[in-house]
Amino acid sequence: MKYAIITGASRGLGASAAQQMLAEGIHVISVSRNENSSLKQAAEKAGAGYIHHSCDLSSEVQVQSVFTAIAADVFKNAEAVYVINNAGVIEPIDMTGELDSSLVQTNVQVNLTAPILISNLFLQKAKETGTRVIIANVTSGAGERPIQGWSIYCSTKAAVNMFTMTAGLELENSGSSSKVIAFSPGIMDTDMQVTIRSSSEESFADVDTFRNYKESGSLRSPDTVAGALVKLVLADNLENGKIYKVNDLL
Ligand SMILES: NC(=O)c1ccc[n+]([C@@H]2O[C@H](COP(=O)([O-])OP(=O)(O)OC[C@H]3O[C@@H](n4cnc5c(N)ncnc54)[C@H](OP(=O)(O)O)[C@@H]3O)[C@@H](O)[C@H]2O)c1
Repeated sequence: MKYAIITGASRGLGASAAQQMLAEGIHVISVSRNENSSLKQAAEKAGAGYIHHSCDLSSEVQVQSVFTAIAADVFKNAEAVYVINNAGVIEPIDMTGELDSSLVQTNVQVNLTAPILISNLFLQKAKETGTRVIIANVTSGAGERPIQGWSIYCSTKAAVNMFTMTAGLELENSGSSSKVIAFSPGIMDTDMQVTIRSSSEESFADVDTFRNYKESGSLRSPDTVAGALVKLVLADNLENGKIYKVNDLL
């Protein structure tokens, strides 16, 4: 059986990716705080397996216990395991000096610590069981350039990129059949953009540019972007450690 473990599948890009994995007949394991009820119906329609695990990815204890349980299940009989580390938060949006320390901690835990812990656990199981594991870390163009007011988001996405490149190098040099890549989705019409547009100009100098993206119809639909992501992770020729950009794939 093939399994796709998708974090943040309750909405946005993660929900679209889960729908499209199910349509490919792949068993989907969704991980987020809330469940998207339409995934169960999509699974029934596609005749594919589906299970949801409620997990707050900002809690290391919950991440370790939920993903240890998932690994115990999937590595019994998996032919291939796809992990999409998609869940993410943009907040805090504010100038350094004004940052809320609890939002800083949550951002680092959800955007960076959780993908690292999940990758570490699944690559360990891949080695133990000889199973091929494909990990896609969803990143952002913000990880490659500074954006005023987004210091924590830019930092965690930059760190995700470096983690991906390093883990990819290690896998390549060890002759493993597993892969770790990153995927940069571009700007999409999701709740994260709603949060960005609701920022004040004092906190986020470019807020008007992002309001214009919505008004001018420049935001891609998460379904379109998920199509590129799912096609990418299911392809045979992935390059370990590479940061794939949606604009090069569509
Ligand atoms: N939207 C864009 O324009 C854009 C651009 C570049 C990169 N990205 C990246 O693309 C990915 C998906 O973004 P999106 O726009 O689809 O975001 P979104 O619509 O805001 O959805 C975020 C997802 O992350 C989950 N999540 C957030 N905090 C969590 C927590 N503490 N524990 C568990 N799950 C949590 C949410 O689930 P629950 O609330 O149910 O827990 C939700 O499913 C993110 O990594 C984001 O950084 C987005």
